[in-house]
Amino acid sequence: MSTALYRKWRSQTFDEVVGQEHVTQTLKNALRDGRVAHAYLFSGPRGTGKTSTARILAKALNCSAPEAERPCNRCPTCQAITEGRMIDLIEIDAASNNSVDDIRELRDKVGFRPSEGRFKIYIIDEVHMLSSSAFNALLKTLEEPPPHARFILATTEPHKIPATVISRCQRFDFRRIPAPEIAQHLQRIVDAEGFSAEPDALLMIGRSAQGCMRDAVSLLDQMFSFGHDRVTLMQVQQVLGAVNTQTVIEFIGAVAARDAQRGLALIHKLMTDGASLTEFCQQVVEQLRAVMVLQMTNNPALLDDLPAETVQQMQAQAKQMDLATTLYAIKRFSTAANELKGGFQPQLPLEMALIEVVQGEATAPPSVVVRTSPSTAAVNTEQGAVKPAAQEKQPQQAKSDDQSQPKRESIVDVETSRRLWARWKEFLGVVRSQCGQQATAALHAVRDVAVSDHVVALAFGGNEFSRNLVAKPDVLPGVAAALSRFMGREVTIECQLGEKAVLVGQAVVVQAQATDGPDPLIEFAVHDLGAQVMQSPTPSSQRKRQTSPTA
Ligand SMILES: Nc1ncnc2c1ncn2[C@@H]1O[C@H](COP(=O)(O)OP(=O)(O)OP(=O)(O)O)[C@@H](O)[C@H]1O
Ligand SMILES: [Mg+2]
Ligand SMILES: [Zn+2]
Repeated sequence: MSTALYRKWRSQTFDEVVGQEHVTQTLKNALRDGRVAHAYLFSGPRGTGKTSTARILAKALNCSAPEAERPCNRCPTCQAITEGRMIDLIEIDAASNNSVDDIRELRDKVGFRPSEGRFKIYIIDEVHMLSSSAFNALLKTLEEPPPHARFILATTEPHKIPATVISRCQRFDFRRIPAPEIAQHLQRIVDAEGFSAEPDALLMIGRSAQGCMRDAVSLLDQMFSFGHDRVTLMQVQQVLGAVNTQTVIEFIGAVAARDAQRGLALIHKLMTDGASLTEFCQQVVEQLRAVMVLQMTNNPALLDDLPAETVQQMQAQAKQMDLATTLYAIKRFSTAANELKGGFQPQLPLEMALIEVVQGEATAPPSVVVRTSPSTAAVNTEQGAVKPAAQEKQPQQAKSDDQSQPKRESIVDVETSRRLWARWKEFLGVVRSQCGQQATAALHAVRDVAVSDHVVALAFGGNEFSRNLVAKPDVLPGVAAALSRFMGREVTIECQLGEKAVLVGQAVVVQAQATDGPDPLIEFAVHDLGAQVMQSPTPSSQRKRQTSPTA
C-alpha cells in the first residue's frame, strides 16, 4: 500500500465527513442560500475532519458544476484542489509561519482577485500558534475582507485565540467521533479495500482512537500491513497491548468485592502473560468511568460505545460499589497508570492502588470526599435537622474539620470544579443561547475554574480583555444566572487573571481605599470560608479583589 490509508480516505464531500453533521449541514445550507460567511473558525480535537471540511468548502465555493452538485470532484477546479495545486487556495500552517510578516504578506496579497476561481480561500491551520502581533494583523484583514476572499481558521486549541478574532468568525466545534461511528466508517474502508474484519475488532479500534478518526484509520492500516486479511479482536488487542475486556471486568469485580487476593492474583497472571500493565490500568480507569456514569445516571445510553453484554456487567458492579469508592478508584488507578512506567518492581504501583482502594476511604485523601461545609452543618444541627449523610459517613473527616483550621481542600470543591471544567464546553453552548455571542467568545478564554459552595472563580489566563468583558456589570449577572441554572445552585462569579483559578483560600487582599460599608463578598469569605482580611500594601489596579494563599 503506497499512500497511507488515511490520506487515500480523506473525505471529499460533505456527506463523507463522519460524525460532524452539525457542521456539514449548516455549511451546505449556507452554500445553497448564498450566505457563506467571510470567516470560519473550525475548532476541535485532532483528526476529526477540520482540514478535510475546509478543503471541501473551498471546492464547493469554486466548483464549476451546477450549484446543487457542488463540490462535484470532477471539474478542473475540484481536481486541482484534490491534488493540492489550486492557486486560489492558500493553505498556511501557522505552526511554522506564525510571524507578523507572514500575515502581512497575506494581507498584501489578499486584495488581488482570484486567478482561476470565484474566491480566494485562505486556510490557516493551527491558527492558535500565531504571535500576538500576527493576530492583530489578521484581525485587520478579517475586519475588512475583500469580497472575493474567504478565511477558514482551524485550531485544536480555541482558548488560545483572542476573543476579538473569534468574534469575527462563524465558529464550528468539531466533536470527537463516537466509537460506533468510527467503526462503521472503518467497515466501509475494509469492504472497499477487499479485506474483512470482526465488528468487535473495529469497535475496539474506534474506542482506542478516542474520537480521532485519523488514528483509527492509521491503526487499521497497521493491521492490514501486518498481512492480516481478516482483522480480529485478538489481533487488535495484541497490537494495543490491551487485555481483554473480561479480565478488566473481573479485576473491577475484585475491587467491588474488596477482594485484594483475587485482584493480586489477576495482576500476577497479567505479568506472567507479558501484558502491558499501563494499558491494563488505563482500561480499568475507562471501565470505572462507565461504572461512575451508571451510578450517577443509570442511563446505559451514555455508554453507547460499549458492547451490551459489558454494559450489563457494569450495571451490576455499579450497584455493588458506592460512588465514593468509584471516584477514589478512578483517581488512584489513574495515578498508578502514570507511575507504572519503569521502576524495578513494575507491578508495584498497580498493586498498591488496588490495596488502597480495597481498604476503603480511610486512606482516601480529603479532596475526593464529598464535602459538607462546616457552617451548613452547624445550622442544620441547630435547627435539629438530620446530619448530612456525607458527614455521617466520614466521621474522621468531620473530626479533623472541627479540630483544625479548614484546609484549602475543604474550601475548594475539587470534584465539582473538575466536573464543571469537564462540561465547560457544554456550558458555553448554554451561554451562547442565553447571553449572546460576545459573552460566549470572552468565556472561551477561560483556562481554569474553581468552585466553592457559592463562588465560582474563572481564570482568564493573560486575557485581560475577555476578563474585563465578562466582569462588566451588564454582562456578569446574566452569566452568573446561566451558570447557577447550569449547576443547579446559586453561585456568584469571580473573574481573575492567571492560569489557575484561585478561591478565597486563607487570605483576602483588599484594596486599601475600600468603599464604605462592608463588602458582602468579603464578609462571605470571612464568615463562610474562614478567610482573614489583610490590608494590601500597594493597591492593585489589576484586580478589584485579589486572592492569594497564605505564605
Ligand atoms: N470526520 C471524519 N470523517 C471521515 N474521515 C475523517 C474524519 N476526520 C478525520 N478523518 C480522517 O483523518 C484524516 C485527517 O483528517 P483532517 O486532516 O481533516 O483532520 P483535522 O481535524 O484537520 O486534524 P488536525 O487537527 O490534526 O489537523 C483524513 O484524511 C481522514 O482520513
Ligand atoms: Mg488539520
Ligand atoms: Zn467541481
